[in-house]
Amino acid sequence: MDVFRIQGGARLVGEVHVTGAKNSSLKLMAVALLAPGKTIIHAVPNILDVTIMAELLRRLGCSVSYDADTETVEIEVPETIEHRADYDLVRRMRASIAVLGPLVARTGAADVALPGGDAIGSRGLDMHTAGLERMGATVANEHGYLVVHAPDGGLVGTHVYLDFPSVGATETLLMAAVTANGVTVIDNAAREPEIVDICSMLLDMGAQIDGVGTSLLTVTGVSSLQAVEHTTVADRIVAGTWAVAAAITGGDITVHNANSEHLSIALEKLVTSGAEVETISDGFRIQMNKRPTAIDVVTLPYPGFPTDLQPQFIALNSIAEGSAMVTENLFEARFRFVQELSRLGAEVRTDGHHALIRGRSQLSGAPVEATDIRAGAGLVLAGLVAEGETTVHAVEHIDRGYVAFEKQLSALGANIVRKSSPTLS
Ligand code: EPU
Repeated sequence: MDVFRIQGGARLVGEVHVTGAKNSSLKLMAVALLAPGKTIIHAVPNILDVTIMAELLRRLGCSVSYDADTETVEIEVPETIEHRADYDLVRRMRASIAVLGPLVARTGAADVALPGGDAIGSRGLDMHTAGLERMGATVANEHGYLVVHAPDGGLVGTHVYLDFPSVGATETLLMAAVTANGVTVIDNAAREPEIVDICSMLLDMGAQIDGVGTSLLTVTGVSSLQAVEHTTVADRIVAGTWAVAAAITGGDITVHNANSEHLSIALEKLVTSGAEVETISDGFRIQMNKRPTAIDVVTLPYPGFPTDLQPQFIALNSIAEGSAMVTENLFEARFRFVQELSRLGAEVRTDGHHALIRGRSQLSGAPVEATDIRAGAGLVLAGLVAEGETTVHAVEHIDRGYVAFEKQLSALGANIVRKSSPTLS
């Protein structure tokens, strides 16, 4: 296990290039299962989760290769695929649940290990399963596996209303509906850019989907789909993390391959905090020339403020002028990292969904532990401005969402190195 050692105080200046979105690439790899033949996906980040998804697809019968230099994955899907996603892989990555919809659609059955909770909350699957049941499937929870069977003639189109615009449930139902019999309406669907990306690949494959990018998706089932070549949408959360990195260090960063429209609320918040943001042809430039002003944030499904940028904004508020209230509406345990941030001297009080942050003029370097990807990013950002040395432990979490984070930060002027964590003998 590695750690990041950071000497705080550097102002970050320079240019970064954002890769494809993790939370899209992994799902696009699952989408490939829907069509026999060769699928090619570009802009797939070189992260462990891609390796895990590739292994999962291999177990299902596919040949998968990944070229880290070109960030391209090639998936050869056979005519007949298996339908079991084993616990040893699923437990390592919740995104494995993305194979559920394609497996039921292609094989009429799925045995997918339950991913369980994780460090950011309980993360149920009730909307995934209720939607499949409405399409005629039977769903049972047997020996730690979700066991799903489509009716004999295949899934049947229906109207599904999601209680909450869940990203995962929208994806499962979308992938199940594209080859179902008749029309499926997904009402109160998630509208994240990653969902739009999946829809755009499915449309190229021959699917019929109306309402892409809205909360009402109407899917008319087709008998088969064709394998295609696709490029993953840019990672808005990585781009947003660079934006906060500029704001927190009083820096000047140009972020390439970023769609500022996908980040409009977050960038607007940074402008309110005192930053200058300029849109450029393939991204944006962000500069901060003063101490940030504290800003309130409320996380909501897209186009609301993303929960995946919440820890980074708490880090920003921890050194800002004034006090701010951050409200978390998606994952109940995402404030766990606040305890770690407090080790750097941040003044944060949490009460249920709310965190009250009183900005300090200075944080003080200390050892801290990343509990999930975004918490890890938030702690690194705080370490960049803390006085003295901050050691961030468990950086394997950060590696799951940020490719070579420390190298990119160093290139911008940060004083950060990766070291092997000392082991107890
Ligand atoms: N939920 C249910 N029942 C369901 C589905 C969801 O109760 O059937 C609840 C969850 O427990 C959670 C909320 O609804 O409280 C949101 O869940 P959602 O399904 O929208 O999220 P997800 O698909 O589990 C994806 C991303 C997350 C990101 C969220 C929200 C992937 C692999 N993960 O999770 O990304 O925070 O959408 O945008 O796509 C990350 O990258 O760090 C990360 C956690």
